[in-house]
Amino acid sequence: MTKSLIDRVPEFIRQIDPYTPGKPVEEVERELNIRAVKLASNENPLGPSPMAMEAVRKYVADSNRYPDGGGHYLREKLARRHGVPMENVFLGEGSSELIDLAARILLKPGEEGLTSEGTFPLYRISIRAAGGTLVRVPLRDYAYDLEALAKAVTPRTRVIYIANPNNPTGTMFSPKEFEAFFRLVSEACDALVVLDEAYCDYVKNEDCAASMKLASTAPNLLVLRTFSKVYGLAGMRVGYGVGPADLLLEMNKLRTPFNTSNVAQAAAFAALDDVEHVRRSVESNRAGMKQMTSRLAEMGVKCVASHTNFLLVELARDSKEIADALLQRGVIVRPMAWMGFPTAIRVTIGTKVENAKFLEALGRVIADKRGK
Ligand SMILES: Cc1ncc(COP(=O)(O)O)c(C=O)c1O
Repeated sequence: MTKSLIDRVPEFIRQIDPYTPGKPVEEVERELNIRAVKLASNENPLGPSPMAMEAVRKYVADSNRYPDGGGHYLREKLARRHGVPMENVFLGEGSSELIDLAARILLKPGEEGLTSEGTFPLYRISIRAAGGTLVRVPLRDYAYDLEALAKAVTPRTRVIYIANPNNPTGTMFSPKEFEAFFRLVSEACDALVVLDEAYCDYVKNEDCAASMKLASTAPNLLVLRTFSKVYGLAGMRVGYGVGPADLLLEMNKLRTPFNTSNVAQAAAFAALDDVEHVRRSVESNRAGMKQMTSRLAEMGVKCVASHTNFLLVELARDSKEIADALLQRGVIVRPMAWMGFPTAIRVTIGTKVENAKFLEALGRVIADKRGK
């Protein structure tokens, strides 16, 4: 070989800042020899839907067989739920897979992928990994600036990623604001708008229903949902998109043939009927959010008002230091410099006991830092 293979990896890939996942509880407990709670990845603290667990126990017995590669029954159920034809529903290994595929089918070098600063990092990673040019506009008051995004559209824009509600700020825009934005960009360019609604189940239902209706008819809108959050199935890796059937057919060529396992499909299928688990999860989140925000206010700590199952907490000092100190006390949170907030941490709403552990640890860490 005349050159190291690393030199053959395209420069645009070598320059990608990788996705940094939250630390697993087991790793922290092993390394620090303490009991830990994980409030770092916006997971459901109540666990998976019990109906999904039952389905997993049943379907794991078929694991010697390949799954249904087309995910027929799950797609059929989702199509019925959203009142759309089945050809408009695409299953992914988490909604992450669809974020990646959208960039891969549409972007060529020289073409642009547009998103915001201060949002889910997989958008910028997917745009760059597909060889596209990344264009970003700043947030305004921690929220997507749809006006600025619409102005940043050019004839070369091919894909636009927006999260509603946004991760990591928890802010959201209204259906009306989205529709106005969507009309503008649909006239201005040939781009797919990827509207990522991973946290919509924590929001009043009617605020997210409108986008699904639009996705079943518009030729340039892909709405993403996931089973990783309110359904408590993050480890199963299953999400889906509702969008234009012709584009989904192209995405289908690029995905791996069995991207969702039989167990994941069965779990998601069962979870959709587990109304009680969803209700309990949303209720527990609402109570936890209140517990967190009122205590943080008492402590004089600022956070951004959130429509989700997490909070962006502004600490006015290097958040990596605070996150490390919290880790030493057995609380795993995420420092947010890599998402554009060097003085903030993102904290998932946990159970009452987990929230109390975080609040107590944060109080001590802040007191320690003040003492220094
Ligand atoms: C805004 C947003 N979109 C997508 C995802 C990915 O979820 P999934 O587990 O379905 O891949 C996340 C995960 O945290 C997220 O925050």
